[in-house]
Amino acid sequence: MKIAVAGKGGVGKTFISGTLARLLAQDGYNVLAVDADPNINTASSLGIPPDIAEKIVPLSNNEELIQEKTGVAPGKSYGQMFRLTPTVSDIVEKFGVIGPDGVQLLVMGTVSDGGSGCMCPSNALLRVLVQHLLIQRKDVLVMDMVAGLEHLGRGTARRMDVMLVVVEPRMKSVDTVKRILKLASDIEVREVMAVGNKIRSEKEKQFIEGKMMELGVPLVAYIPYDEAIAEADMLGIAPVDHDPDSTAIKAVAELKDYLKKQYGL
Ligand SMILES: Nc1ncnc2c1ncn2[C@@H]1O[C@H](COP(=O)(O)OP(=O)(O)O)[C@@H](O)[C@H]1O
Ligand SMILES: [Mg+2]
Repeated sequence: MKIAVAGKGGVGKTFISGTLARLLAQDGYNVLAVDADPNINTASSLGIPPDIAEKIVPLSNNEELIQEKTGVAPGKSYGQMFRLTPTVSDIVEKFGVIGPDGVQLLVMGTVSDGGSGCMCPSNALLRVLVQHLLIQRKDVLVMDMVAGLEHLGRGTARRMDVMLVVVEPRMKSVDTVKRILKLASDIEVREVMAVGNKIRSEKEKQFIEGKMMELGVPLVAYIPYDEAIAEADMLGIAPVDHDPDSTAIKAVAELKDYLKKQYGL
């Protein structure tokens, strides 16, 4: 199962993707978490200790790797030819960090803007890597994305089973869902589902329900606003370790069970 988690900044993508990854791993799946959000940081939501997390070098910053795989040094790219189909099968093993419950984390780093036409070597490498990861037979891949999959292109999007768009009960977050939906249809993402997060009242729940119905997106989970998640953040502990019985964690567990059923896992 390949899951991408998208949405506006701050809506809870990292919390939800990290927690989903941990809960799936606790169920015995072999999970690869991919941090594709340059705004840090899936490591802490997975429960990887800060001293290890701090040492992780995002792949996009790893000059040696980029040079080795593409034959071109980062930044020296334009107009230069480089190999477009580097072998990347060893990257997860070499650069993945193992976290609690055996979740493996790969930090991609920043995909530079410039659209799909940008042929910087780091972008080319990340694109090939993601395609490889989506073909590879790992049980579950959970990708924490910054916005959509635009920089990754069609071939990638079609290989994703589902894109979960996280939405909080705020108009700006709904507007971001609209943008992501447009993009998802342009690049042919197979399935898009909305996940409501930080819900504090029946009114907020109904707001999200109404908006998602207008947009025609199935709303598959309601995650409440939960002080325990905010506390975990302040303590620097993974939410699932801080209070596994909290209401928000239980709601993510329900989402996990729903996805397992939906995709026959
Ligand atoms: N259900 C929730 N209840 C309370 N706080 C939450 C909830 N979900 C996320 N948060 C908090 O909101 C902030 C942003 O969450 P984060 O997962 O980093 O968002 P994103 O990755 O989308 O930018 C964090 O401080 C996180 O602890
Ligand atoms: Mg994030």
